[in-house]
Amino acid sequence: MAIKLFFGNVKGGVGKTTITDMTAYILATQYNQRVLVIDCDHQGDSTDFFCDYFNIDLGMEQGQHGSMFTIYDAIQDYAKNNNPEAIHKAIVPVTDSLSFIPANSLLEEFSTFLSRMKTTESIQGTTYIRNVLETIEDDYDFILFDIPPSAGHLVTNVIIASDFYVGIMSTEKKAFRKLQPFFDMCNEHSVRAQQFLQDYDVAQNLGVVMYFVTQNLQEEKYVADAAQDFFGDLIFDSKIRRADVVREHERMPSLFFEDTEENHDFLQMFEEVTQELLIRMQALPEDTVRVATQEILMPLQEYFTDEQLFRLKEAIEGKGLQNIESLRLRGYKSSDPRKTLQTHMIRLFTGSKDDEALFEQQFIQLEKWLAKEPTAYSISAMQRLIRKHRKALEIV
Ligand SMILES: Nc1ncnc2c1ncn2[C@@H]1O[C@H](COP(=O)(O)OP(=O)(O)OP(=O)(O)O)[C@@H](O)[C@H]1O
Ligand SMILES: [Mg+2]
Repeated sequence: MAIKLFFGNVKGGVGKTTITDMTAYILATQYNQRVLVIDCDHQGDSTDFFCDYFNIDLGMEQGQHGSMFTIYDAIQDYAKNNNPEAIHKAIVPVTDSLSFIPANSLLEEFSTFLSRMKTTESIQGTTYIRNVLETIEDDYDFILFDIPPSAGHLVTNVIIASDFYVGIMSTEKKAFRKLQPFFDMCNEHSVRAQQFLQDYDVAQNLGVVMYFVTQNLQEEKYVADAAQDFFGDLIFDSKIRRADVVREHERMPSLFFEDTEENHDFLQMFEEVTQELLIRMQALPEDTVRVATQEILMPLQEYFTDEQLFRLKEAIEGKGLQNIESLRLRGYKSSDPRKTLQTHMIRLFTGSKDDEALFEQQFIQLEKWLAKEPTAYSISAMQRLIRKHRKALEIV
């Protein structure tokens, strides 16, 4: 059964759509997960995202509805004709493991539809999306909803269909003020649904991603600090910075896949958020651990024999060091802690590839370091050790 989640804030333009689509893209391409994005916003911004960047033609001119079958069509078919299979028609493949369901402006009529069905006030009116997913959710590992910047029946439907939600906060006062009411809304609807629905678990709040962070402006710092005080541990360590490359992508969608430094940095911000998201929902699939460790060890191959690499892999996974979070706990504070770990390991073990005794000696040190709970002292001791050996090696 798919894990279902959405990013939200009642405030508009805070980055919800971008983070939803980028997270879906990363889960599909880097974690090999089967992912579906359901556009639940009548603005259709996620629909445009996939059409623009993946060159998908839904047969509609700008501003028109075309022949596409949307989430709203699937809901109506389900409600009127009792046809739970209709949703299959709405799925648009993007890559082998990523698909989306489009939306258009007709979705604005969802409330009218509820009153026609006489379900505006009932629990039934809040469960259309949950029910309509039944026949497809086993086909996916993750289903992400892109929601509009408002409260309303459609958003209630998304809340009740979801396992998790994440707050998005651009560093401005209004986004901060509107976040707690958004969390309250999610909680209220979810708790209410529990009274009526069987096999229903209340949706969980995974935390807050700070968005459009620049850290230059005084006002921004004041809001970020206030949010940190108020939300505490709910605030993600990973943050999304304002990136000029977004404008470039909008101007020329083909640039989205260019192998440039800006694109790499842009992607990396969302990779870190995705990794933290998975850690927070305790959903890191086993494969993910393997992929993440491989990523760390790949550039180290030339420095170690296969057997040495295997031992390092065991040591890294034994302490969960493939997780950016765990690395941060151990004092790797840089924006790319895995790179720092790679650099440290190269420094610590350089020259030991063909010197088993030296490798053994260093490995014992590494294990001692890993055995200790990270403290400021053990971190600086590790760093001293690395410096010492680097010096020794340089002398040799
Ligand atoms: N990291 C970023 N750096 C710069 N611009 C960005 C970034 N992320 C998103 N944007 C741009 O900011 C604008 C708002 O982002 P987005 O559409 O994701 O917000 P939203 O919360 O979904 O908005 P709405 O409430 O209208 O649905 C868009 O033009 C988007 O392209
Ligand atoms: Mg949006």
